[in-house]
Amino acid sequence: MRILITGGAGFIGSHLAKRLVKEGYDLTLIDSFHSYYSKQQKLDQLAEAKKAGEFEFYEIDLLDEIQLKEWLTGRSFQKVIHLAAIPGVPASIADPLQYIDYDIKATVNLLRASGEAGISHVVFASSSSVYGDSGGKRRASKEGDADGNVASPYAAAKFGAESFCRAYRNLYGFDLTILRFFTVYGPWARPDMAIPIFMNKLLRKEKLHLYNQNSARDYTYIDDIIEGIYLSLKNPAGEKTYNLGSGNPVTLETLTTVLRKHFPQLEKEYAPKRMGDVDATWADIEKATSELGYQPRFSLEEGLERTVHWGRTYLR
Ligand SMILES: NC(=O)c1ccc[n+]([C@@H]2O[C@H](COP(=O)([O-])OP(=O)(O)OC[C@H]3O[C@@H](n4cnc5c(N)ncnc54)[C@H](O)[C@@H]3O)[C@@H](O)[C@H]2O)c1
Repeated sequence: MRILITGGAGFIGSHLAKRLVKEGYDLTLIDSFHSYYSKQQKLDQLAEAKKAGEFEFYEIDLLDEIQLKEWLTGRSFQKVIHLAAIPGVPASIADPLQYIDYDIKATVNLLRASGEAGISHVVFASSSSVYGDSGGKRRASKEGDADGNVASPYAAAKFGAESFCRAYRNLYGFDLTILRFFTVYGPWARPDMAIPIFMNKLLRKEKLHLYNQNSARDYTYIDDIIEGIYLSLKNPAGEKTYNLGSGNPVTLETLTTVLRKHFPQLEKEYAPKRMGDVDATWADIEKATSELGYQPRFSLEEGLERTVHWGRTYLR
């Protein structure tokens, strides 16, 4: 089966490539090496994925619709996993229009090109951010809870992109799986996220800044996310939306307690909540469990141990 991954040089894309190559899929990756973080890290991620086996890679920007359509013509992919986007809440507040381009316009270009190319299944990477802020009332979010009342331009772009995915499924009839990822971490984690930021500081023996120490995130280890994507690929069924998380929210305070086992010198100071950050994310994973057989396997302790092991080698 021929599969296309967009954003394939990214954190999740490169891990997914590794897994799908091992499963024997005929795989092609595209990526534009967006400057959100270093091209060198993305090249290293691609090199890491290549250790698992062969796949094709093309440097293509989804914003160039003409190039994209020409490139897709005659390539006969059956499935597309659309991970390409610019992520991150603070950057979306600083430069919201980029998110309309890279997270919505690029998605529409891909959806239209996929429909015209006769692709049978599109998997879209959405985000827990579509659930907005719980306003201090902590409970697990179910897929039906998202109502567009979001807390940042990034979240608005993901919510909007989901809607375009459904529109293009209705126009072209492909199967559509929308996956809402909850704070993914692991080796090669994106450098703007809390865990790699903390590890970078800890390796340099610097103090951590905790924005809103009681805020909680449903940290999900990368291998569990990859398993969820893999299961969704194998189970196309009309139009479906699933949460992929660990189902276990962890406060920043608890996260630093677990990190201290690896970095006993850990020092921290507290800072106020940042604009656009939500109080908590918490995935209800019952739907993914019952319909896809998704079952996260990694505890925070185990996931962090693997991540710290990688960080000590790569981040030095
Ligand atoms: N990492 C997380 O915790 C998390 C959580 C929720 C949702 N997501 C979503 O999952 C997807 C992958 O996230 P990630 O953490 O791997 O991010 P990433 O930044 O590592 O990967 C995204 C890749 O997309 C590429 N890209 C961006 N715009 C492009 C364009 N126009 N054309 C081609 N390539 C382009 C980038 O160069 C990058 O390599 C994103 O859609 C993100 O919003 C991630």
